[in-house]
Amino acid sequence: MASSVVESPVADTVDQLIAEEEQVFLRRQPRSSELIAVAGEHLAGGATSNWQIAQPQAVWMSHGQGSKVYDVDGTEYVDMHGGYGASIAGHAHPAIVEAVSNRVRRGTHFAQPTEDAIWIAGELSRRFDLPLWRFANSGTEATMDAVHLARALTGRDLIVKVEGCYHGHHDSVQVSVLPEADEIGPRDHPTGVPGNSGIPSAIRDLVIVVPFNDAGAVARALAEHRGEVAAMILEPVMMNAGIIPPDDGYLATIRDLVHADGALLIFDEVKTGFTTGPGGVTAMTGVVPDMVCLAKALGGGIAVAAIGGTRGVMSAIADGRYEQVGTFNGNPLAMAATRATLAEVLTPRAYAHLDELATRLRSSLEAVIAQYGFAWHTVTVGAKGCVTFRRDRVREFRDFLEIDARLGHLHWLMQHNGGVFLPPWGKVEQWLLSVQHDKDDVDRFAANFARFAEAVSV
Ligand SMILES: Cc1ncc(COP(=O)(O)O)c(C=O)c1O
Repeated sequence: MASSVVESPVADTVDQLIAEEEQVFLRRQPRSSELIAVAGEHLAGGATSNWQIAQPQAVWMSHGQGSKVYDVDGTEYVDMHGGYGASIAGHAHPAIVEAVSNRVRRGTHFAQPTEDAIWIAGELSRRFDLPLWRFANSGTEATMDAVHLARALTGRDLIVKVEGCYHGHHDSVQVSVLPEADEIGPRDHPTGVPGNSGIPSAIRDLVIVVPFNDAGAVARALAEHRGEVAAMILEPVMMNAGIIPPDDGYLATIRDLVHADGALLIFDEVKTGFTTGPGGVTAMTGVVPDMVCLAKALGGGIAVAAIGGTRGVMSAIADGRYEQVGTFNGNPLAMAATRATLAEVLTPRAYAHLDELATRLRSSLEAVIAQYGFAWHTVTVGAKGCVTFRRDRVREFRDFLEIDARLGHLHWLMQHNGGVFLPPWGKVEQWLLSVQHDKDDVDRFAANFARFAEAVSV
């Protein structure tokens, strides 16, 4: 054990290492640089989503196979980016390739239901203990439907939202997603900060922001707006600020609080859904909310989302009080991929394999942290994990704001240059293991992490 613990290495060293690693990064990707130059002509910003553009430049991909992805320069990476948490099946998983290929040959779109939807809804009911389901195409659509449904059922407009949670890019939830420290206001009444441009202030005023892991703050918010709140929406394990697990009893307490006020509880399990376990945090904790939103890993790499609810909630869809619609809802291609994912990929055996890899990776990283005496720690939940560059556990978004973002960026660069592809925004995002990863894959991550720790040890 080192005699002293180091929270943040010397600033200049980190800045210099970032500059050096960014140069290595660019030298390794000449073809990406060429494509970016061409793409800007007709592709706004030279990419297909703003979050595909990282510093120093976007990585253009060629293909994926198993646990690996390959960029347009032919470089192989162990993929722990997982397409922002979607690729738990890995790439080109044989069961999904077969299911999708068979479906493509038989037509991919009718805007009418196909039989796979019945099987999937039954399986989701079993896994998440909610009886009725509908499908959509993205996490954004799922949380949008959930918020609409809550408003439709209660006849109320306000929603309670947790500071630092991301629920997609529709207006109602684009408040206090990743606000800066000088914008957030007092902790007992956080300021609602628009999460993007183009969010009307009238919509922002319908959102009451509370800190995570503070049931007292939820009780206060409900008391201050008695009978006006339609729902509280949250990620039951926060995963857009590193990983922040709930305190024991927090989820059950807030469920009881919102119910006592006649409001509904929405779990956004878009990120946690199948990555934390077969039935997400809902099954793990036994706290069943009124609605669960799923997307990302659900389709094994094909765009799909689902919203599940109690009979009372979903009756509003069944009887037409709320029109849950969408041209591509339940489209046969997404349904075929989803059925294969649930039936053949995300099996109990697969989860045992993921747990084994997560334990191996976590203990390797903790050994490195102890060796260098850094005051950092690792957080893993199922196939998801991150290193938190801070001594103490993060309990809410305001703790997360104290973390030095440069360490996450440098770590991302060094993993990348060492052949492991992680999501950018190193402080915000997590790694994802897939069922096709093996011990060599996680050992490559651990070896890169050891090089990173050595580089920043001063
Ligand atoms: C927790 C959570 N909810 C919702 C979304 C939105 O999902 P999508 O990007 O599929 O619209 C995301 C996306 O990152 C998310 O992390």
